Amino acid sequence: PDAEYDALVRELEAIEREHPQLRVPGSPTQRVGAGVLPGFETVAHELPMLSLNNAFSDEEVAEFTGRISKELGEAEPAFSVEPKLDGLAISLRYEHGVFVRGATRGDGATGEDVTANLRTVRAIPLRLRGEAPAVLEVRGEVYMPRAGFEAYNARMRETGGKVLANPRNGAAGSLRQLDPRLAAARPLSFYAYGLGVTEGWALPPRHSQVLQALRGFGFPVSPEVAVARGTRGLLDYYAAIGARRDALPYDIDGVVYKLDDHGQQAAMGFVSRAPRWAIAHKFPAQEQLTTVEAIEVQVGRTGALTPVARLAPVQVAGVVVTNATLHNADQIARLDVRAGDTVIVRRAGDVIPEVVRVLPEKRPLDARGQPLHPPYEFPSVCPACGSHTEAVRKVLKSTKAGGIEYAEGAAIVCTGGLFCPAQRKQALVHFASRRAMDIEGLGERFIEALVDFGYVATVADLYAMTVPRFLEMKQRADERDGTVPETVKAGKVASKWAENLVAAIAASKDTTLERLLFALGIRDVGESTARTLARHFGALDPLLQADEATLVEVPDVGPVVAARIAGFFAEPHNREVVQALRAAGVRWPEGPPQRSAEGPLAGQTVVLTGALSAMSRDAAGDRLQALGAKVAGSVSKKTSFVVAGEAAGSKLEKAQALGVEVWDEARLLEFLNAHPPV
Ligand code: IVH
Repeated sequence: PDAEYDALVRELEAIEREHPQLRVPGSPTQRVGAGVLPGFETVAHELPMLSLNNAFSDEEVAEFTGRISKELGEAEPAFSVEPKLDGLAISLRYEHGVFVRGATRGDGATGEDVTANLRTVRAIPLRLRGEAPAVLEVRGEVYMPRAGFEAYNARMRETGGKVLANPRNGAAGSLRQLDPRLAAARPLSFYAYGLGVTEGWALPPRHSQVLQALRGFGFPVSPEVAVARGTRGLLDYYAAIGARRDALPYDIDGVVYKLDDHGQQAAMGFVSRAPRWAIAHKFPAQEQLTTVEAIEVQVGRTGALTPVARLAPVQVAGVVVTNATLHNADQIARLDVRAGDTVIVRRAGDVIPEVVRVLPEKRPLDARGQPLHPPYEFPSVCPACGSHTEAVRKVLKSTKAGGIEYAEGAAIVCTGGLFCPAQRKQALVHFASRRAMDIEGLGERFIEALVDFGYVATVADLYAMTVPRFLEMKQRADERDGTVPETVKAGKVASKWAENLVAAIAASKDTTLERLLFALGIRDVGESTARTLARHFGALDPLLQADEATLVEVPDVGPVVAARIAGFFAEPHNREVVQALRAAGVRWPEGPPQRSAEGPLAGQTVVLTGALSAMSRDAAGDRLQALGAKVAGSVSKKTSFVVAGEAAGSKLEKAQALGVEVWDEARLLEFLNAHPPV
């Protein structure tokens, strides 16, 4: 990590000061930045690209301003104060207003020609606005915004690609891609902060005026730049930017103070590789070294298992970090992180801390020199409930609106469903929802409390809730949350809500098999599959006994869903929940199986679209299914006919394009009337 590097360089500088004979040309104190890679043309910087000295404390800033005030004989000269972006320094050359070449800093004297890659960065103007000088070299930082970095890594994790360690490596790596198309795929941006050589331009007397002029030419300049005076003024700026660090859309590692007046800059001059008129005041590092005490797995409310590294506590960017996400099993394998390892953790913005890299040379070894701990193995059972886990390609994700939906991505999930405490709240929300058991008034807040205070472990326990238990639960929740209602303060106990809730729970006992199957929350079993299953088997017990081979025979049920259903009912916990629901008095009509292979629409696939006026689309689908049709969600060549109601859209268009038969509502009603339900 940077902080570690900085500390070691400082230590080395101190040693070299005391023992100058130890200072060798290859010492890290003697050079600037990384070398030139083979593959790119080299560019000699006419004006060298220097680096900045660092200040890590208020005292060091005071020394810097004190030195300048003394030498200039001015108490509080003006400074341009700027965020220090954590990216890659580059120099852009414009001739008569046209971008002709861009180069990395390299060793400060020579860099790499990365023009082709820089042309793909949209923030870099290819032509200047206004009256352009004959030659203008602009220097600044290419960086990767945090959001782009996170999105890029999320995509890599899902597709098994190589993740970027941090946005700075992302920016540097992108510019060094030999194929500009690859660079173009990375989300890079740019801020200008200075100049190289210029010809045919009257240089403004102050740096802040240069930045203003650069804006005029069309360069992005950070909106955070300002002018400040005096040690106090600089430190105030440091504190103000520091307070907003996490909210900025890009990583910064400090702020830079530059004497604003060019004449004063010249008077201060340079020392070896850095100006004496500027300094970088660093923030606490976003990356730190620490050790992994253990690797554990957390179960989210959607059942996804996320591995977490428990860390020896460490300050990262001003916050004590004790946990870091390891994302998923693939990421653990990629990192090869094990208990006892020394790792780099990174915390930036409001993103959860993550393990970036393992330091293999610090791995603890046994007496025979072998690693003390074997490679980590992902648990095959859920740590919260002991059910087996499985790999899925589609994961449930929380949406911004608070709901959940399926999204592409690899994950390992717990199959415990209703039984798993980590998934219980979500399972209860689903179970009580309108299209499932339809328990009115049982909202998320009550469900939270029911689970948190241990009133319900499984959905079946809902049926044991009574008015007094609900009142007791509410009281505990109010006490915990400090939200004691006025009525209670007045010595009254409102109980009507609890009576209503108990009545709603009781009313939900009379249900249908399809509602029950949907309510159980079996992965991939939505309302339509639940309905098909209920029809096909007619009763619960034959479904509980069905193996995968039997299940695939059900129309609409493919091998994946068949495996899910069989897997769900094979879990003893899930069977127990079903038995408990029965014991609690949940009941539904059962009848003979309705195998639709026999009806007049047997073998036909129907798609319903648009609004019907005589009945709902669901009801129409039920009738058609009862007559043997398979009801599908999308139109293909295999579709037998499409029923199009009012305002039918793309599905109707597709049917017409494919030449699939289309029925209007009148034709549907005619057909249904000719085939009344038995
Ligand atoms: S001025 C002679 N201004 O920090 C002065 N540098 O450690 C040269 N950086 O190589 C640099 N933001 O990559 C300057 N507002 C800013 C900066 C900045 C980021 C980087 C740049 C430079 C390094 C110096």
